[in-house]
Amino acid sequence: AGAGTGENSAYPSFSSRIAFIIVTAGSAVGLGNVWGFPYVAGQNGGGGFVLIYLLALALVAAPAFMAELMLGRMGKASPPTALGRLQAKVGSKLHWPLVGWTGLVGTILVLSFYAVIAGQAMDYMLEAAGGGFAGWSDADVQALDANFKSSMPMMALWSAIFMGLTALIVSFDINTGLEQAGKVMMPLLLLILLGMVIYSGNMGDFGKAVDFLFGFHEMEFTPRLFLEAMGQAFFTLGVGVGGIMTYGSYMGRDVNLPRATFWIVAMDVFVALAAGLAIFPLVFSSGVDAAAGPGLVFLTLPLIFADIPGGAVVAFAFFLLLTFAAVTSSISLLSPTVARLEEAGWSRRRGATVMAALVVGISLLTSYSFAGGKDVFPLAALGLGGMTFFDLIREGVSNFILPLSGLAYALMVGWALSREDVRQALPMADGPLFRAWHMVIRYVAPICITALFVGAVAG
Ligand code: PHE
Ligand code: NA
Repeated sequence: AGAGTGENSAYPSFSSRIAFIIVTAGSAVGLGNVWGFPYVAGQNGGGGFVLIYLLALALVAAPAFMAELMLGRMGKASPPTALGRLQAKVGSKLHWPLVGWTGLVGTILVLSFYAVIAGQAMDYMLEAAGGGFAGWSDADVQALDANFKSSMPMMALWSAIFMGLTALIVSFDINTGLEQAGKVMMPLLLLILLGMVIYSGNMGDFGKAVDFLFGFHEMEFTPRLFLEAMGQAFFTLGVGVGGIMTYGSYMGRDVNLPRATFWIVAMDVFVALAAGLAIFPLVFSSGVDAAAGPGLVFLTLPLIFADIPGGAVVAFAFFLLLTFAAVTSSISLLSPTVARLEEAGWSRRRGATVMAALVVGISLLTSYSFAGGKDVFPLAALGLGGMTFFDLIREGVSNFILPLSGLAYALMVGWALSREDVRQALPMADGPLFRAWHMVIRYVAPICITALFVGAVAG
């Protein structure tokens, strides 16, 4: 258990405010930023999508993120338990722990594809260490991606390695495990990313990338596009599965929540945009399709590494960055279930090992979707033709579980808890900022989320 900020010596706590911010930013900054944002923005046409995404972040996801942290600090337990306590406190008849349990299921589903993508990053890191991509052609790079995605044993092996590493870190107490991992990996990640943006700005078509991400283009604003933007906003902050609630439970009373939220969200947005500015210049100069989908980073980046001086080193650094981003998030995804199992008397090590093994098993659905099951669409009969297991898991979590939990948090914090309890839990002065946030949590967020669902279902 940490010394610094904890007021309850029996319950673990991060050792300082800055440790909390770094580790929680580590949870937010993940594959969603470096791998997800560029490909989702690419598939949805760039500029207009980015704008809606930023609006969804500011108006819905970030306020919900702050609410989730607050619920964690108020409940000081794993998500189902914390929410159960708060339910008892307000005397609600609804079953709040259900939201916590749904989140735990969500963490496992996210990890099940996270492990495969992170595994590919680690595989490419090894490739870079063994000489890099020097002299590779477009076709070579495409073949490497295709090879990885055609071998289920290879994907399963890498998923197991990645989850093993995640479980190892989570096995330690939080100050030795998660906290040290974040403190080491996050600064390195930011440094490598900045280097990447500079490299790719020099090597590729930077102007076109800026125009693609921030310019306005002829595009259709469909209800689906809005839902996708909101899903990406929730996913990138990691709101809605209880990982953030669990980290919130380790947060000391001395952390100023609005300020911490601001820095974490700012860092997350910065990393996503920087990743876009590292990747799109190369996409446009190499002729890869911006809408290439989930393979985008794996198809484009090895290409610059093929011709720049010292490319092998840069390639290694980039895939290391991607791996770090994944690990600092996967540890936050494994933490809630492990915390819940600890409440049931399990050791952290046992909980982490068992959950990691379960994740590796479920990850086979994702590797199958990339390999033999590319054209297997399990819910085609429900009108979800064209969606593989991977698509269903990724979109099901991002576009449904996360926003629905976000809606539940907003209703708990905005309506069930008293305004004064909430104000003191943050804590915030009763000024314009608190009033604005409280209005957002009470009205704006629930209305936006509901409207987007109705729109997406009706449209
Ligand atoms: N925020 C992480 C990302 O962008 C993913 C994540 C989701 C982490 C849910 C924690 C909880 O990649
Ligand atoms: Na993120």
